[in-house]
Amino acid sequence: MFDKNLANMNVIDEDSMDSISYIFPDNVTPFVNQVAGHEFTKAKPTIGMMKHSDGYVLKPVPHPVYGPREINFYKTLETTCDPLLKDLKQYIPQYLGTTSIELDNKDVRCICMEDITKDFKLPCVMDVKIGVQTWEPNATEEKIKVERVKYAACKKRWGFSIPGFQYYNVRDGSFIRRGKDFGKRMSAQEAIQALYSFINAEAGIKYGLVASILEQLRKIHSWFRHQRHFLFFSSSILFAYDAENVKILINEGESWGNGEAVHNEQDSKINVCMIDFAHVLPNLEHKVDVNYLTSLEKLIHVFENLSDLYALNS
Ligand SMILES: Nc1ncnc2c1ncn2[C@@H]1O[C@H](COP(=O)(O)OP(=O)(O)OP(=O)(O)O)[C@@H](O)[C@H]1O
Ligand SMILES: [Mg+2]
Repeated sequence: MFDKNLANMNVIDEDSMDSISYIFPDNVTPFVNQVAGHEFTKAKPTIGMMKHSDGYVLKPVPHPVYGPREINFYKTLETTCDPLLKDLKQYIPQYLGTTSIELDNKDVRCICMEDITKDFKLPCVMDVKIGVQTWEPNATEEKIKVERVKYAACKKRWGFSIPGFQYYNVRDGSFIRRGKDFGKRMSAQEAIQALYSFINAEAGIKYGLVASILEQLRKIHSWFRHQRHFLFFSSSILFAYDAENVKILINEGESWGNGEAVHNEQDSKINVCMIDFAHVLPNLEHKVDVNYLTSLEKLIHVFENLSDLYALNS
């Protein structure tokens, strides 16, 4: 499912699957910048993310347990008086309530939230799933077995996985899109390559972009070191920036910043957001969420050393 901007581009998307066409309600369309999660595929008839003409996205939450749980998570952050929980709101997309839409004569409950790719001309998006343990503590043996082998190489080396990403290569103008099949086959070094290419580093590393990503990841890390409210399983950090800004800077012969996070208009468009709270559980023992925290630390390490890690094997 593609953006109309791609009509004249070299599109590389080997994982693309047949999509189901529903009749969508007025003002609602499939969301073209979705890179991972449940999609409108024929093979597995799930419902994907949608976009409303008012600019927000709709995440369908049909599951009887995970749906209400994710809605409650967002609602808790809206109503809480706890300052630490309130703080979390700055690292997640803005919650805009819930709605029901009709698809094939069925009501589907959806969470409405800010689209973190909104107004991007050439949206580059990457979903990084945090944690080696992607199953809930009470998962069945069978589920644990399935989850353990998913994205095994990347999780083993880096503690996170990359279920999907898309980016515009500013050097040759192509558009690259990779889904979970690619992610599952990915070696540890290919994960580094993916992160490197995702930020268009082959066209010259944008230190300001990396610094801005690191600044935002470190803030999330700092929040996590303090929080004892929740345990996050199978949750992601979503990265989104507009390659149009990189193109403009390259055309102007500039590099993107000089190692410090510079807060200009372009930088404000690099979004780093926590998403997917369907498997967030109350932290009954009030322990540090080691699974999330360790993975996030490794992700920070990778961005801190991206050029060196890339050079090691290329
Ligand atoms: N606020 C947002 N703005 C832009 N894109 C988003 C946003 N939230 C989600 N997405 C896109 O949708 C994809 C799927 O989202 P998410 O991970 O929440 O759903 P899921 O994995 O299908 O959900 P679940 O595990 O709860 O069934 C993400 O990888 C991302 O591409
Ligand atoms: Mg997800």
